[in-house]
Amino acid sequence: MVAPTPADKFSFGLWTVGWRGRDPFGDATRPELDAVEGVHRLAELGAYGVSFHDDDVIPFGASAAERDRRLELLRKALAETGMVVPMVTTNLFTHPVFKDGGFTSNDRDVRRFALRKVLRNVELAAELGARTYVLWGGREGAEYDSAKDVRAALDRYRESLDVLTEFVQDRGYDLRFAIEPKPNEPRGDILLPTVGHALAFITTLAHPELVGVNPEVGHEQMAGLNFAHGIAQALWQGKLFHIDLNGQRGIKYDQDLVFGHGDLMNAFGLVDLLENGGPDGAPAYDGPRHFDYKPSRTEDIAGVWDSAAANMRTYLLLKERARAFRADPEVQEALSVAGVADLRTPTLAAGEGYAELLAEPEADFDPDRAGERGYGFVRLNQLALEHLLGAR
Ligand code: GCO
Ligand code: MN
Ligand code: MN
Repeated sequence: MVAPTPADKFSFGLWTVGWRGRDPFGDATRPELDAVEGVHRLAELGAYGVSFHDDDVIPFGASAAERDRRLELLRKALAETGMVVPMVTTNLFTHPVFKDGGFTSNDRDVRRFALRKVLRNVELAAELGARTYVLWGGREGAEYDSAKDVRAALDRYRESLDVLTEFVQDRGYDLRFAIEPKPNEPRGDILLPTVGHALAFITTLAHPELVGVNPEVGHEQMAGLNFAHGIAQALWQGKLFHIDLNGQRGIKYDQDLVFGHGDLMNAFGLVDLLENGGPDGAPAYDGPRHFDYKPSRTEDIAGVWDSAAANMRTYLLLKERARAFRADPEVQEALSVAGVADLRTPTLAAGEGYAELLAEPEADFDPDRAGERGYGFVRLNQLALEHLLGAR
């Protein structure tokens, strides 16, 4: 029934299907996956694009000739499949040089090296036609409060972002940056840990219009937060530049499960928001539906492709379920009882100010009566659940 097509704009990090299952306790459980094969297989499954870290395609420290050779292979795979590269990012976390961070390492030479690594890869991103450059600062942080001057680190973070936005402007690249928040892992505490922290930080930049967020489902949920709410605020501030879809079960290590394999109700709310949350029920987001998951290490290579397909299938099923939910007259009635649309009416009337508000006779409003209102939120949520279960 539901088969993904390029029009659905599904993209995958090459590092997702390429993850070999190495974790802190165990060795790799799968062989290496060639980037070229990854592009072909994802295209066959119906994806429209891939993203990658510089090191996913060009091994760290590769010679110029090796870099050219690898890029040629990637370009060929993209041309053969029609796949695009909507987003590119940098690996500032694997090599030991980044053990204390990239942009915010206490070691200035490391910071300069990290920034050069990003600048060089931004050139490649622009050349490949990427519109978004993700910055995930997994190593930007600390384990010990006395070891990191957080205010100085934020100064250095901002300095790096300001250099990057100046660079894309000078070069005339049509490229924006998206900060990906995460509360912890690999660092004990990561800087810019949530969507809210990142949004606040962006307002301090020289070119805030060029910087948004790339929220990941599991990362907000690791902090116990409501992902759909974070996305709603990012949309409200015009900052949802990109998204990392996956699954997470509660406050624990970063699971990177298949999309929907965690908090399914919140995934339903998220898809409803993305697909139906715009003006007149249009999509609220038109960027890539990007999956950043890890095929569990119990899976063989066939399981890798099954899990990749599962992400897209789940998204499409939720999209279909959300459409049915919206189209149900009983849901419309429950939404009306709940007063959901009434919240869109400004609290003060046009031309009114606090003086008019204060002049309103208190007798006109009966708080006790208003306090008796039942909002019917539970009934509305049950309708959502029944649509989600396919029971309606
Ligand atoms: C994680 C992160 C990473 C980043 C990616 C982009 O799972 O902790 O999502 O996968 O998204 O490395 O830089
Ligand atoms: Mn993650
Ligand atoms: Mn991610």
